[in-house]
Amino acid sequence: MSETVKTECFDETPTRVVSGEGALCSSRACLVGMDISRALIVCGENVARLPQIEEFRDACMGSIETVVFAGAEPDPTDGNVLEGGALGRKFDAEAVIGIGGGSSMDCAKAIAAEIGSEGWIAAQDRPGEPVEVEQEVVPIVCVPTTAGTGSEVNPFSVITFTETERKLVLNHESLYPCCAVLDPTLLVSAPKMVRVAAGLDALTHAVESYVSVNANAGTRKWAGESIRGVAKYLTRVAENAKDMDAQAGMQRAAMVASLSFAQTRLGIVHAMALPLSALFGVPHGVANAILLPHGMSFNCEADPEGFMAIAAHLGVEVQDMPVAEAAATAPEAVATLAREIEAPATMGEAGVEESAIERMADDAMQSAHVQVNPRKISREDVVGIYQAAM
Ligand SMILES: [Fe+2]
Repeated sequence: MSETVKTECFDETPTRVVSGEGALCSSRACLVGMDISRALIVCGENVARLPQIEEFRDACMGSIETVVFAGAEPDPTDGNVLEGGALGRKFDAEAVIGIGGGSSMDCAKAIAAEIGSEGWIAAQDRPGEPVEVEQEVVPIVCVPTTAGTGSEVNPFSVITFTETERKLVLNHESLYPCCAVLDPTLLVSAPKMVRVAAGLDALTHAVESYVSVNANAGTRKWAGESIRGVAKYLTRVAENAKDMDAQAGMQRAAMVASLSFAQTRLGIVHAMALPLSALFGVPHGVANAILLPHGMSFNCEADPEGFMAIAAHLGVEVQDMPVAEAAATAPEAVATLAREIEAPATMGEAGVEESAIERMADDAMQSAHVQVNPRKISREDVVGIYQAAM
């Protein structure tokens, strides 16, 4: 491996994290070390065209045969998983490498399970029931091309089931990637709005996890590191995609937020963001960006010390302020950051219709994230937050 590439292990995940410029090509050695000779690459159409993918396949030549399944759609479907699984079986894939944003990585995880049991994905369309995996799952390697979701170190795979129109989070320990490859050079091609939305998604993960009712000292350590990373690097990444130090910093911030929220789950912002995406196609990170300051303002009174700490991680000088006042600066600091990087500020700007608020409130209240929110929340509260964000 090159000197700039390092490998880390964490107590919170079985995933080994390989990071640094050139990490993707270096990961070939890990695959060879695992006796992998055939790997299925899962990605979307745009990522399939990146020169780095060609370079990686060239680097693998002679030791690892690769085939590309470029059919992972944004919000991947059960159909994508079936198709990718069939290709993986035909190719006799010994590993699946998911390269892309959260959608491609989530799709890759489900494909790895589908390869070992044809039709497995169809049987997972049952909300509220645990995911069952009895078959062997080939090793999963995840390679993020955005700094946001943190899917590369967690066992979650969000799949849309087309026939029932359900979007479910499949969660099973066999869906943990064995290896995450954080190569900042892969983040350069994403357009500004994708970088902004992904970064604010990572911040939302960290903030919601920090004040979750399930938070503990261990999860707050990672969530705090993530918030500091976003505060330090997101503006730089938004301004200049080629700022490699900042890209690597954001990549780390997104990853460590996932180490935290995989244990705590999220909160009201994620619960309320889902209907914006489902009904109006608002990208997940944009939906979070709009709702985050409002959700934080609502939650402040439930955990003022927690929000005071969040404000401090964001860089606000809170030490001489009364706790409640310091806590209130946290949502303000997030709103200021979002404004600076030109994130959409209202649901109206993102194309959401006010007439849908009642329906969205019903949907948001069904989310499991509501249960771990630090402040008890009613349907009326949700309607009020949506109205404030309109
Ligand atoms: Fe998210």
